[in-house]
Amino acid sequence: MDSFKIRGGVPLRGDVTISGAKNSVLPIMAATLLTPEPCVIRRVPNLSDVKFMGEILRSLGAEVAFDKETLTVKAERVNGVGDYEMVRKMRGSICILGPLLGRLRKAKVSLPGGCVIGARPIDLHLKGVRALGAKTRIQGGYVCVSAPRLTGAEVFLGGRSGPTVLGTANVLMASVLAEGVTIIQSAACEPEVVDLANFLTSMGARIQGAGSPTITVHGVKELHGAEHEVIPDRIEAATFMIAAAATGGDVTLHGARTDHLTAVIDKLREAGVRIERSGALLKVTRGRKLKPVDVTTLPYAGFPTDVQAQMMVLMTLTPGISIITERIFESRFMHVSELGRMGAEIAIEGPSAIVKGGAPLSGAPVMASDLRASAALVIAGLVADGTTQVNRIYHIDRGYESIDDKLRSLGARVERVEEP
Ligand code: EPZ
Repeated sequence: MDSFKIRGGVPLRGDVTISGAKNSVLPIMAATLLTPEPCVIRRVPNLSDVKFMGEILRSLGAEVAFDKETLTVKAERVNGVGDYEMVRKMRGSICILGPLLGRLRKAKVSLPGGCVIGARPIDLHLKGVRALGAKTRIQGGYVCVSAPRLTGAEVFLGGRSGPTVLGTANVLMASVLAEGVTIIQSAACEPEVVDLANFLTSMGARIQGAGSPTITVHGVKELHGAEHEVIPDRIEAATFMIAAAATGGDVTLHGARTDHLTAVIDKLREAGVRIERSGALLKVTRGRKLKPVDVTTLPYAGFPTDVQAQMMVLMTLTPGISIITERIFESRFMHVSELGRMGAEIAIEGPSAIVKGGAPLSGAPVMASDLRASAALVIAGLVADGTTQVNRIYHIDRGYESIDDKLRSLGARVERVEEP
C-alpha cells in the first residue's frame, strides 16, 4: 500500500486550483441512469471513487467514457442489480438506489455497511422510497426495492443527526419520474444536493426548493440527456485553506465557491487566519497570532463534518484550549490517536475533542483511517518537525485529486512511496 513521506516545516506558497466536488459528481453520475440518452459531465475530478462509480454504472449496463475531466454516460439499457461486492466497497454508491427505482421501478443494491466514522444506516433512504409506494426488504445483504407505481408523496427525512445528504439525493432521484407531487421535508441543504437538482432539472425534471429544507418535485414522464459542469469541491478548498494557515504560508485558491464556504471562512477568521476574497480567488495567510476556537459540526450551512479533522490539526498548533464537537457522525475521531503520536494533546469527552494546543508536532509514522482523517494527517506532517510517513493513502486518493502534486507545487516536501 502506498504511503506519503512528508518532511515538514515548509510554508505553502503559491496558487492551487480546486477540482470538481466528489460528493456532487457521485450522485450526478448515478442520476444519468434516469435516461437512456447520453449525458456529458464536466469538471469531473480524477478520483478512485469516481472511477469506481464508473465501474458500477458499467456493471449496470451503461456505457461510460472518461476523457480527462469530461465524462460521458449513456444508460440505454440498465439492469437493476448493484453488484454486491462493488457497492459494499464504496458507501457513496448507495445513491444508485433512487435512480434505478425511478427508471426500472425496482432495484437490488447491496447494503453499504458501516465504515470507520459510523454505522451509516439507510433507514431514511428506505422511509423515503416507501413513501413513494416502493416495497423494501433486506435479503442476503441486499436491499431490494420495487414499486409497480411510484406516486408522489410528502415525506419527512430528518433523522437523529439531522438531514441525510444521500438519502435526500435518493428520494429526489426516485421522485422525478413518479406520478404527482413529492414534497421532501427536512431535506439536506448541501450545495451538492443543489448541484444534483440542477442537473436533474437540465434533464427535464421539475424541482423547486433545492438548497432549502423543503424540496417540491412535480413528476414527469421521462428525462432526456443533458450536459453539466460539477461545482468545485468545498471540502478540498477548506483542506487547502487550513493547510496554508497551518504551515504559515500564503496560498491563493482558484475556482473555489466562496459562498459554499461561509462557515469555514468565518471559523478560520475567528481563529486568526487572514482570508481575502477577490472574485473567485481566495487568498489565505496565517494572521499575526492563531487563537483557540470552539467548533461544532452541523448540517449545511453549519461547519462541515468533513472539515472537522483538518480543523483539529490547526487547533493543535494554537496555544490554548479548543473544543471540537462532532454532531453528525458517532465516531469520527480516528485521527486523534494518530495526531497523539505526533505530540498533539487531545482528550475525547463524548462527542467532543478537547485540544490543548501550542506544543509543536513532531514527525512520526501514522496510519490513515478514512478520507478526511488522512487529509488531517497530511497537514500535520506538513507542519511537524522531521519526517512523517502517512500510511494507507489509498484513503486520500479516494477524495483528493493529485493532492501530492498540488502540495509539491506549493513547495511541500511530499513524496509518494509506492509499496510493491
Ligand atoms: C454524505 O454522506 C457525504 N458523502 C459525506 O462525506 C458527508 O460527511 C455526509 O454526507 C454529511 O455531510 C457523500 O456525499 C458521498 P448522511 P451521507 O446521510 O449522505 C445519519 C466524505 O468524507 N443517517 O448525510 O452518507 C448518518 O448515520 C464523506 O466525503 C441516518 O441516521 O451522510 C449520519 O449520522 C464522509 N439514517 C447523519 O445521518 C439514514 O438513512 C448524516 O448522514 C442516513 C443517514
